[in-house]
Order: sequence, then C-alpha cells, then structure tokens
Amino acid sequence: MTVEVKRQSFWQLEKMHGFHPLPGDIQANAVIVGAGLSGLLCAYFLYRKGVENIVLIDADGPCSGVTASTTAKITSQHGLIYAKLIKGLGKERALQYLAANESAIQHYGEIIRREMIDCGFTPCNAWIYTTNDRQVEAIEDEARAAQQLGIDAELEPVTELPFAVRGAVRFPNQAYFHPLRFASHICGVLTRAGCKIYTHTKATAAEAGIVYTDKGNIRAKHIISCTHYPFIDKHSLLFARIYQDRSYVAALKDAGVMRDMYLDCADGGFSFRPQKDTDGRDMVLFGAYDHKTGHDSKELHYDGLLKDARRLYPESRAAYLWSAQDCMTHDGVPYIGRYDSAGENIYLATGFNKWGMTSGMAAAEIISDMITRGRSDFEDAFRLDRGDVGLQAKSFVKTAADIAGNFASHIIPPFKPVCTHMGCPVKWNEDENTWDCTCHGSRFDREGKVISGPALKPLERIDGIEPL
Ligand SMILES: Cc1cc2nc3c(=O)[nH]c(=O)nc-3n(C[C@H](O)[C@H](O)[C@H](O)COP(=O)(O)OP(=O)(O)OC[C@H]3O[C@@H](n4cnc5c(N)ncnc54)[C@H](O)[C@@H]3O)c2cc1C
Ligand code: FES
Repeated sequence: MTVEVKRQSFWQLEKMHGFHPLPGDIQANAVIVGAGLSGLLCAYFLYRKGVENIVLIDADGPCSGVTASTTAKITSQHGLIYAKLIKGLGKERALQYLAANESAIQHYGEIIRREMIDCGFTPCNAWIYTTNDRQVEAIEDEARAAQQLGIDAELEPVTELPFAVRGAVRFPNQAYFHPLRFASHICGVLTRAGCKIYTHTKATAAEAGIVYTDKGNIRAKHIISCTHYPFIDKHSLLFARIYQDRSYVAALKDAGVMRDMYLDCADGGFSFRPQKDTDGRDMVLFGAYDHKTGHDSKELHYDGLLKDARRLYPESRAAYLWSAQDCMTHDGVPYIGRYDSAGENIYLATGFNKWGMTSGMAAAEIISDMITRGRSDFEDAFRLDRGDVGLQAKSFVKTAADIAGNFASHIIPPFKPVCTHMGCPVKWNEDENTWDCTCHGSRFDREGKVISGPALKPLERIDGIEPL
C-alpha cells in the first residue's frame, strides 16, 4: 500500500481557535499586529505584567505564517554564532544575545508548567556538527566561544546521526515542542484574560498612536509589529537590512528513534530533530536545502531532500513535506525594540534568522519590559539603530546586483514580473509553483495573488497571456 505524502507541515494538523475580524474603529492600550508566535507571546507577557486592554490582530488566523511551518527547536544554539558575535560585536553584546535566548528557554518551561500546556515539550541536547575537515576549526572555535560565555558546551567525537562527523559541539538543557499546540493554548489564556483577538484584519500603515487596517482604525498608546516581515518601513531602511531565506522539511517515519537535535554548520546543510506522530510513533524532522528566496531555483529541492532521506534512512518514508522562509539579518542578530527613536511608542520584532522560537520569546520579554519598566536588560544587543545601516546597505546593493540575472527566465509570465512591494524581479519557483520576489521574499500564486508579503497588491497582469 502506498501512503500519500501530506504537503503540509505536521503542526498544521492542529485546529487553531477561530476569531472574528475587527468590527470597526476601536481603542486599546496596546495593539499587537501579527498573531504568530512572537505576537502571541508579546500579548501574553504584557498581560502577565498587568497591561490591560490589549488587542491582537492578524491578516489571516493565529499562527498562519512561518510559525505553522517551523521545526520548533527551542535552543540558544544558533549555528556558528558565538565566535562571530564575540569577534564582531564584543563579548558584552554576545553575552546579552546568549542571555536573552537562554532566558527564553527557561520561560518556555515556566509558561508550560504554569498554564499546564500539553505540547510535547521535551528537554534535550542541541548539537552543531560538521562532516567537513575544513570546518573542524570553526566547530572548535564555537565550542570555545560558547564556553567563554558560560555555556556548558562540550566537543564530542560521536553522535547518534547515521553518519560519522568530523567535529560536533553539544549544548545541554535545550528543548523541542509542538508550536501550534502551545500557541493554541496561549490563545485560550489570552482570550480568558480579556485580550481581544481579531483575525482577517490586515494592518496597512501605522503612525504614533494609530494602526490603520482594512477593517477600521485602532488607536493605541503602544503599537507592536510582529508581522514577520515588517508592515511598516518608513525610516529604518529595513528593506535593505532584511532578506528572506527558504528551507525544506520532511517528517520521516521509520527513521528510527532520535533523542537530540542536530544542525550541520554548513550553509544549506542538514537539520534533524525528533517528533512523535499523532499515533505516538517516532518521526525525524529532516530539513535542508536552504536558499535565499527567489534564488537558487535551478534544482528541485524536495527531490534532493527525499533523495538524501532515502540515503540516510533507507527504511524511512516521508509522511509530511513542507517549506517555509524566515527573515534574515546580515549580522545574524534579530531586530527587536523601538522602531523609531522619536518616542512614538512603536515597537518591532523581526529578522529571527530561523531561530524565532527563542527570539520570539526574547522579543516578548524585551518589548514588554520596555513598555512596562522603561527598559530591558537585553535591549542593546537587538536594537534597530545598532549602527549597521551602512554595512547592510552595501550588502543590499550587492544583493540587487546578484539578482539582475534572475530576470532571465525560461518561463514567460502572464504578469509584469515585477514585485508590487518595491519593484524587484519575481522568479518562478518550480517546487512550490509560486512567483517569488528576489529582494525581500514576497510570494505570489500562479494567478499573481499575494501569498505572503511584504507586498500587499497582486502582480499586474499582461493582457492576452494566461496564467501557467
Ligand atoms: C523551515 C523553517 C524552520 C525553522 N525552524 C526553527 C527552529 O527549529 N527553531 C527556531 O527557533 N526557529 C525556527 N524557525 C524560525 C521560526 O519559525 C520563525 O522565526 C517564527 O515562527 C516567526 O514567528 P513570527 O511570529 O515572527 O512570524 P509569523 O509566524 O509569520 O507570524 C506573523 C503573523 O503576522 C501576520 N501578518 C503579516 N502581515 C500582517 C499585516 N499587515 N497585518 C496583520 N497581520 C499580519 C501573519 O498572518 C502571521 O500570522 C524556522 C523557520 C523556517 C522557515
Ligand atoms: S518583496 Fe520587496 S520588492 Fe518584492
């Protein structure tokens, strides 16, 4: 009997709460735009710190964005990061980054216990490894950097992976969970606490004290943007400082039992973590083939992923197959904090670099502290005005040059192949049957309708040419 692969993430089997759209103009103390994991956690932290009259809006439903397609490792082990942070930003900032993420792991444990959430939260080790002799030194540097910052990181010669590694570092006391079960429970807690959640309500703009949406305006003292790619970009040049990067994931059955979580330190390398299927059987969530959205679409990434899965786990079969993209920053550190420096009380959380489980929690802690205490112990490492605009702008120009070649495509689009966000080229993605923007990662379906922003408008049709 052949069993069909489900083309959705495993988490999406979870039924999320249903909510209504915004009924019209309202007032709030704090409005959070975006009910993904980071928006829900911001609302939860504000509620726990005594803020009343909180409103949360989402263009779609709760956790309908990247959170639905994550691999949900809860870890401060973010690839080869600590050696780079110590070198580039100094030990103090590196310590702040680590402390914010370690604090996030602890918060998960505390919240799950306090709210009695059944979300498969499982403590484990997180490993970064290499199979390449040339990267052994980088692995050793990372172990030293982590130890210097106080992590009990160990270099280990052997892992439980189905191949030999050349070097590996183990971080203890990390975890994984079911993100939508967790988020669904938090929605319930927020609703019972009187927080108002409105779905199918898209924010179109914001300025001091007001968010404009397609269903009405929300006047609020505090505005927090948790929309993944920011829906505002008036004066921070975020379009030049953030890009999107895609990854592909297969949930493998009959791949044996895995205990810990693993990440290859090479770009586009493998990622592994265990997960129980709905029937309690073990699965391995196997990810790879990262690439910048709208780039590197020469090969079929799902085919590559499944081929690798068969090679590593010959007995296995893919039960679920999905892909998603996250916002990336050029220095590897998210943007969390005040969006403006003019005291407009607008805050932002983005650029999680595929580590939004802890970064989203860190964002909730930082922003809620800034609102209720006036400051956060971690804010300096993540602030938007951390002086990298020149660097990012240069990188953006390089990116723009890289993508020029993408205009040449063997497929004739039925649209102007020009993204409606800021006019960059869009490119056909054969894995997903979508048009993907080569600059900031907007995605459009084959009819040209927006699947994910920042673009808000569909692609412009060329008369006389039919969609693919
Ligand atoms: C393949 C993959 C694997 C990953 N694995 C991990 C992992 O193992 N561990 C980890 O820590 N991180 C991981 N990440 C990263 C993590 O999943 C994300 O950083 C995180 O889910 C982002 O959460 P968010 O709330 O910021 O965004 P989202 O979940 O995208 O939520 C944003 C919400 O905002 C809404 N929205 C957007 N625009 C508007 C608007 N204009 N008005 C109103 N609402 C709007 C959307 O509908 C959406 O619901 C992974 C990412 C990818 C792509
Ligand atoms: S997403 Fe910005 S130009 Fe396309």
